[in-house]
Amino acid sequence: MVTNIIKIINVQKSKKEIQKAAEIIKRGGLVAFPRETIYGLGANALDPRAIRKIFKAKGRPLDNPLIIHIADYESIFKMAKREFSYAQITETLVKKFWPGPLTLILFKKKKIIPDEVTANLNIVALRMPKNKIALELIKMAEVPIAAPSANLAGRPSPTTAQHVFEDLRGKIDLILDGGSTEIGVESTILDLTIKPPLILRPGGISLEELKKVLPDVKIDPNLLGGKFKEKAKSPGMKYRHYAPKAPLILVNSSNLKERLKKIEELIDFYQKEKKEVGLMISQETKNFLKRDNISLVVGSRKNLKEISHNLFAILRKFDRMKVDIILAETFSEKGIGCAIMHRLKRAAGIK
Ligand code: TXA
Ligand code: MG
Repeated sequence: MVTNIIKIINVQKSKKEIQKAAEIIKRGGLVAFPRETIYGLGANALDPRAIRKIFKAKGRPLDNPLIIHIADYESIFKMAKREFSYAQITETLVKKFWPGPLTLILFKKKKIIPDEVTANLNIVALRMPKNKIALELIKMAEVPIAAPSANLAGRPSPTTAQHVFEDLRGKIDLILDGGSTEIGVESTILDLTIKPPLILRPGGISLEELKKVLPDVKIDPNLLGGKFKEKAKSPGMKYRHYAPKAPLILVNSSNLKERLKKIEELIDFYQKEKKEVGLMISQETKNFLKRDNISLVVGSRKNLKEISHNLFAILRKFDRMKVDIILAETFSEKGIGCAIMHRLKRAAGIK
């Protein structure tokens, strides 16, 4: 299969190209497209054959369900029953955060959704992305679009069309290239089927923002350094994820001097073992580091949004540089920092 890439500069002027992508979705094909978070690999959420193609192209375990992307509010209760216990809160959250990087897990999935999408679970994950290309594509396809991240299972998520091409070339029909994605990490997954509602995966909408409308919301205790249960509520969370090819080691310290000392000690240690060390560090650290190792700047410590935007792209860059080990600086867990640190810990193999 030849994987085409079409550049979309302006949704208004590119209707024909997006229509072409919508036709592919309608006839059961696979299209990768940008969202505000990362690139996703989309298929018709109502077509079990198309859904199976997604799992095959990514090498995704079949027990890891897919988020369904919609472009209008009416679609929510076409796919999930309007449960009295959460209908009100769903409406409040949707009004405040959609379109945007918040995925809601609702009970109970309606029959229209094939079991392949939800990996046989009776709950459904829905979101409305804040990206014009994505919204136009969903509208033109006239079906909800199920879409996981458009990477090979386990690899860092793609934030550019080129990243998607690296992983899925020859396995999917089309990539819509809308440039690099803004947020750079995935949506926040919020489980509304239990009380209090739980964040199963931190992402583009922070705990602090959610607390303003949902004061009792909590982060899934499984995410806070504890072990993952065999039967995790969000099954994807139990798999190794976001990993660059070289092992990644976290360097914890918010104090610059201490951080520089730790980094230098680790460099010395690994260089004695004849290892090529790569560094993923902030601009602030880079300014004072007196070593000439390969170092990629992920952003400023004062701008966590810049760091989330660059995170996955930098992990992928290291793969092309053939380093033996990556030392990665850690960041504050406030706001989007929670999602950044979650991805970094997973990339380091810490659950
Ligand atoms: O920003 C995002 O959310 C991106 C873009 C493409 O929209 N999507 C994304 O998909 O990150 P993926 O497949 O990489 O992660 C989806 C996560 C997995 O951890 C999966 O287990 C969970 O969502 N999930 C999906 N459907 C679920 C369901 N019905 N019940 C529980 N967890 C679900
Ligand atoms: Mg993923």
